Amino acid sequence: MRVLVIGSGAREHALVLGLSRDPGVTALACAPGNAGIAAVSELYGVEASDPAEVTALATKWNADLVVIGPEVPLVAGVADAVKAAGIPCFGPSGEAAQIEGSKAFAKDIMAAAGVPTAHSEIVDNPARLDAALQRFGPTYVVKDDGLAAGKGVVVTADLAAARAHAMTLLDGGHPVLLESFLEGPEVSLFCLVDERTVVPLLPAQDFKRVGDGDTGPNTGGMGAYSPLPWAADDLAASVVTKIIQPVVDEMANRGVPFSGLLYAGLAMTPTGPQVIEFNCRFGDPETQAVLALLRTPLGELLLSVANGTLAAQPPLDWADGSAVTVVIAAEGYPGRPRTGDVIAGSEAEGVLHAGTRRRDDGAVVSNGGRVLSVVGVGDDLEAARQDAYRRIENLHLAGSHHRTDIALRASRGEVAVPAS
Ligand code: AMP
Ligand code: GLY
Repeated sequence: MRVLVIGSGAREHALVLGLSRDPGVTALACAPGNAGIAAVSELYGVEASDPAEVTALATKWNADLVVIGPEVPLVAGVADAVKAAGIPCFGPSGEAAQIEGSKAFAKDIMAAAGVPTAHSEIVDNPARLDAALQRFGPTYVVKDDGLAAGKGVVVTADLAAARAHAMTLLDGGHPVLLESFLEGPEVSLFCLVDERTVVPLLPAQDFKRVGDGDTGPNTGGMGAYSPLPWAADDLAASVVTKIIQPVVDEMANRGVPFSGLLYAGLAMTPTGPQVIEFNCRFGDPETQAVLALLRTPLGELLLSVANGTLAAQPPLDWADGSAVTVVIAAEGYPGRPRTGDVIAGSEAEGVLHAGTRRRDDGAVVSNGGRVLSVVGVGDDLEAARQDAYRRIENLHLAGSHHRTDIALRASRGEVAVPAS
């Protein structure tokens, strides 16, 4: 099987590595890829969000399967175009990708499916902002009502800060979404979905804030671990029953069936899991940890989703133990990152590339905000943490920063769902 992966982050590096371990995958290409992915895959330059360009490449390269990593091409309808050309594609239609692309669509589906989620209101007129903020009260949750790569959200008890963020969004012409605050540890549950059948992967947790102790601004994700030692054994099964299956069925019944990876971002509140958001693709950096533990051949699995034969697949096979991902970010991230710095040690095992490129002289240099994802594995979370942080000691990128506490509290048994 010849597999073409679309995207250029550490998530796509993890997908490409997973696919390369599948004996059924005979050739791999990635577009546009990065310096690390080039070691295991052919690379092609492509505008990932252009349906015609991606389809032309998939056709010319004779792909048997196209796997689309990021949300922007999915929302732009790249999967529709690839499928229309007769090539199996892992990833939802542009219409189904609205579960991530439009908060209003997602809230509407959830309401119809009876799925618990935060109460929300859209404010598109600055004159209505203060009254709306007053209705919600602290803790304020202020979001950009559109795709914002996790960075358009401010969660704060400070009314002035909430107001300032909302005004910045409104001044930029973006409607603001206010939400009630959901209390409790967050869980990322990734589910393979082929229109009706749902197969959950191991649950993971992401670290959204830039600084240790969950301080500083939100980012695209600074680290992750999987599985969750503090969660009930039936967490995935019960979230599928109460949340994922009703949403998947509601979408299918509306004629907008979902096929691909449905990512539920959940808050484990005292009254049970509630949805913070849905994404229409694998999460980054959780995928880097989750796929490190998957033993089932990945190509065959993703193809079964694309072909609608997921229900016939054997149960997933997972390695024992834990995996931890730590993101190495460039100076300035999540603001304006510095790029072009030489990276030393980035070709080591367990080092996945995101914002990297190879310079003409052969040096690997930084080329984005989140530069690398370092993945450690071990018998338990503490061992996986140690493995990841040991690998980081052999890396060098001037000015870079990373969190030192990924999975720390969970490894010490300090994470729990708050009591009601
Ligand atoms: P989002 O881009 O919607 O995933 O939000 C980014 C992050 O903000 C989430 O991962 C949460 O940490 C936080 N967040 C978003 N919405 C809420 C909410 N309603 N209650 C509590 N935290 C939230
Ligand atoms: N880990 C957050 C995301 O992928 O959206």
